[in-house]
Amino acid sequence: MLCILLLFSLLWCSILNVGVVANSKDDDNGDLDNTTNTNKFYTYSFNRYELDQYRLETKELFDFALDNYLNIGYPFDEVKPLSCVPKTRNFTHNDLITNDVLGNFTLTLFDSLTTCAVMNDKKRFVELIALITLNYPQDTKFNHLNSTVQVFETTIRIIGGLLSSHLYATDPTKKVYLADSYDNSLLSLAQDMADRLLPAYLTDTGLPVARINLQDPSKTNPDLLQENNIAAIMSPIFEFTLLSYLTLDQKYEKVTRYAYDKIWSLRSQLDLLPMSINPNDLKTYSFITGIGASIDSFYEYTLKSAILFNDSSLYKIWLKSYNALKIFCKNDWFFVNINYINGQLVSNWIDSLSAFFPGLQVLNGDISDATFKNLINLKFWDYFGGIPERWNFQRIINDNSNKGSKFNTNQNTNTNNNNDKQTNPQNFASNLDKLQQLKDSISLEWYPLRPEFIESTYFLYRATKDPFYLNIGYQILQRLKTIFKGECGFAGIQNIFTGQLQDRMETFILSETLKYLYLLFDEHNELHQLSDNIIFSTEAHPMWLSYKQINNYKKNSFFNDSNFIQHLNYCKLKDEKDAKIQRDKKNSQNTHNNFLKGLFNRNHDYKEIPSQNENHFNKQLIESQYCFVSDNNNKPFIQNNNYYEKQSRSSLLHSNLLSTFNRLFEPDIRYSDTLIKPDYLKDYSPFELAEPFYTQWSNSNGFSKAMQTTESYELLFNFPGEYYIHSVHNTNLNMTDLYCGDFTGHRKIRIEKLAPGKISSYGEILGDDILDNTNYDDISNVEKDNSSNFESGSFVLRATILDGNILGSNSSIILNKDAIMKSVTAYSESASQKDFNFFKIFGLNSDNQLTLQGIPIINIFLV
Ligand SMILES: *[C@@H]1O[C@H](CO)[C@@H](O)[C@H](O)[C@H]1NC(C)=O
Ligand SMILES: *[C@@H]1O[C@H](CO)[C@@H](O)[C@H](O)[C@H]1NC(C)=O
Ligand SMILES: *[C@@H]1O[C@H](CO)[C@@H](O)[C@H](O)[C@H]1NC(C)=O
Ligand SMILES: *[C@@H]1O[C@H](CO)[C@@H](O)[C@H](O)[C@H]1NC(C)=O
Ligand SMILES: *[C@@H]1O[C@H](CO)[C@@H](O)[C@H](O)[C@H]1NC(C)=O
Ligand SMILES: *[C@@H]1O[C@H](CO)[C@@H](O)[C@H](O)[C@H]1NC(C)=O
Ligand SMILES: *[C@@H]1O[C@H](CO)[C@@H](O)[C@H](O)[C@H]1NC(C)=O
Ligand SMILES: *[C@@H]1O[C@H](CO)[C@@H](O)[C@H](O)[C@H]1NC(C)=O
Ligand SMILES: *[C@@H]1O[C@H](CO)[C@@H](O)[C@H](O)[C@H]1NC(C)=O
Repeated sequence: MLCILLLFSLLWCSILNVGVVANSKDDDNGDLDNTTNTNKFYTYSFNRYELDQYRLETKELFDFALDNYLNIGYPFDEVKPLSCVPKTRNFTHNDLITNDVLGNFTLTLFDSLTTCAVMNDKKRFVELIALITLNYPQDTKFNHLNSTVQVFETTIRIIGGLLSSHLYATDPTKKVYLADSYDNSLLSLAQDMADRLLPAYLTDTGLPVARINLQDPSKTNPDLLQENNIAAIMSPIFEFTLLSYLTLDQKYEKVTRYAYDKIWSLRSQLDLLPMSINPNDLKTYSFITGIGASIDSFYEYTLKSAILFNDSSLYKIWLKSYNALKIFCKNDWFFVNINYINGQLVSNWIDSLSAFFPGLQVLNGDISDATFKNLINLKFWDYFGGIPERWNFQRIINDNSNKGSKFNTNQNTNTNNNNDKQTNPQNFASNLDKLQQLKDSISLEWYPLRPEFIESTYFLYRATKDPFYLNIGYQILQRLKTIFKGECGFAGIQNIFTGQLQDRMETFILSETLKYLYLLFDEHNELHQLSDNIIFSTEAHPMWLSYKQINNYKKNSFFNDSNFIQHLNYCKLKDEKDAKIQRDKKNSQNTHNNFLKGLFNRNHDYKEIPSQNENHFNKQLIESQYCFVSDNNNKPFIQNNNYYEKQSRSSLLHSNLLSTFNRLFEPDIRYSDTLIKPDYLKDYSPFELAEPFYTQWSNSNGFSKAMQTTESYELLFNFPGEYYIHSVHNTNLNMTDLYCGDFTGHRKIRIEKLAPGKISSYGEILGDDILDNTNYDDISNVEKDNSSNFESGSFVLRATILDGNILGSNSSIILNKDAIMKSVTAYSESASQKDFNFFKIFGLNSDNQLTLQGIPIINIFLV
């Protein structure tokens, strides 16, 4: 038990033990002679004949699903894959889950269009457009629809599908180009739909309400308008701005961008947003944040819009918010959910929608972290046969020591329990009913064939060309062909505990799941050949803009809709007034500003309601500089798709993941408590251990690093000032050191306790020499707080992760001593912290290493 942790209420976590289960094969079948597999077809060879076969099989599945929709579901929104009847809007009840999405507007038709285009099926593409024209003729368009629907869902599925199809139809370089036979009808339908949705933004705040009646906004039931989530509020900038580019009418961009910027101005001091607010009065509904449902496409569309529209202000927001995620939410294998105000962990689960994030990281150039984050989703596939809607990385254990809270947020005791538990996970499990244990591990037990895992797998394959990812696709294809294929379409899993299927085929299965799978196998798809910035929308509709279109917009666009001009002016005036009120309030308070919250993250109760002025309405966007530090592949992907192609191809003949990645089986051990196979899947084994695949693609050097036995802690600092960091690759020492000029803002450092005989997080077995040359002296001359149990001389500390960036085992963090002193002084001078002295806890030894209660952190230097 380490007292420092209690003392400062650090946000910390112990790194649970991890182990080795890889059964690496002895035979050396590594690099295959290419002549043996170019002309032959056999499973796992992934030669082009085999890939072509899988590509065609995927197209057959798509055709099967689409035919069934057209024969049975059409003209309603979906077809039910098991009962073979249309799935319709609920015309009698206000059934939000159904009616938010199904507007009685032949939804599957719109959402399938671009998959036909991606598959180069011009005949189908033309047929579907003809059906759309028939149902929605130019003179009436969507006029007959008297449905109240969700603005976000309608935007991404209908407007997105139409805009992307319009791009395909009008781009002479595309195989489905329609030339003069196309009359821009898809674009004018998209515009018609956007005009019906745009009044959702005519609120007092300029933020959109969640739902709107397509015929008459005033008919929208006001009960449905109180809450809206951040993803839904911010995302329309992508489709609507593209619509502006294509119609030259700026109003779609201006109105949605205003809402986007306004939400961003509501971010907390951690640069994080809540997930859900009331668009009428900005009241925050929930303090939880993360990367999953309700906030996912905020991150996605910030980066994607920055790229598609060449918008550096959006790119800065992406950098800032992605950094905040890395500092506060990153927990090795996934991003956790935290309180957006104080950074405290608030849930023990992650949701399936977050599986898209590795794909987004690839777009940003963070391939190694994306690799890592995608693997946990593969493990779900291995254990649960799909991706549970919500998985608990820690089981919810209802024992008495945990009164009142389902999830024990007291990290101290929690981790100690875990340590005990981890030493002997089998014993722990054997005391519980297995089904109960499974149920404790999954709090939402369905899997509606969502696309996010295959999407990220596709992006990772394009970036790495590792056959490992092809095999994930192969596994998914097999299960689509067998388990998930119903009589009239594809059915996901209703209940992961029993394997019971779901009588629903959501449109994203045709729009996304099958499209990404197809693209994974289609090495030569036209989308992979071009040098344009092709961006997939959150519904997998490909979007791009030519220089000509961009320039035309710059020259000829207009904003002359007086209704929206007046409304935006009204909102902006109101903002100025509110900002003044805020300023006056601030000035009248005797505050040492809120940045001076504490050196360490204190245990704020995460249920605490923030006062008005903590909302930071209209906070200025502060320009600041970032450099990423995580890995060499870390080049922002902004230029064009060819970046993927330029990635190393050296892995073509073996799987890097099987051969050199030494943490492939770590989650199996680390989360053995909540990765549990239901009975009906007990013969279903992870492919990464399937003999033919393993022997074929690992080059026999595969290894897993040894089980970590050291303990780790996280220190969370909050010094006054903005965040600034840069890394320098030191070629002499051949290692990447991190130089932090100023140690300001929110910073998180994970430190590891190194002692002889332990195995470090890098898998090193630590010898006695780890303590050699260690200098336990102190030159800071401040009496130390001696309530620590740290026993000088028996171990040292080492930093392993800084702000979510994993340090190389030989990397150091170099801090500027003067800057630290400045931060410390500024901090200590704040009224509430008079009695706090940084150097009572931290010191400096004569090697210039930072010490923590007398123990040197051997790779943090103050110079
Ligand atoms: C097979 O390998 C040889 C060299 O070993 C190379 O010249 C040839 O282009 C390769 N063929 C294919 C299809 O990759
Ligand atoms: C509509 O909702 C009601 C109440 O939830 C339900 O009983 C009914 O089956 C639903 N109808 C359809 C067509 O979904
Ligand atoms: C729903 O759509 C169908 C098919 O287009 C149509 O016949 C029906 O009138 C629509 N129902 C309502 C309530 O709009
Ligand atoms: C639209 O639907 C509402 C019920 O949702 C109904 O009261 C109204 O009469 C309908 N309007 C038209 C023009 O069909
Ligand atoms: C993107 O913006 C930068 C400067 O903001 C400009 O130099 C560049 O030409 C733009 N690219 C395109 C394709 O418009
Ligand atoms: C707005 O400007 C466009 C282009 O100049 C013009 O075609 C359109 O009629 C104008 N609309 C209004 C409402 O003035
Ligand atoms: C630096 O490391 C790389 C591999 O990471 C190695 O190829 C290179 O030779 C090393 N350079 C020096 C100077 O040690
Ligand atoms: C450290 O311990 C000594 C006695 O061992 C005690 O007098 C002193 O107050 C302690 N210092 C702090 C800061 O707790
Ligand atoms: C770290 O440095 C030690 C010696 O200084 C060297 O033996 C070891 O190989 C290095 N590790 C890495 C990963 O570079």
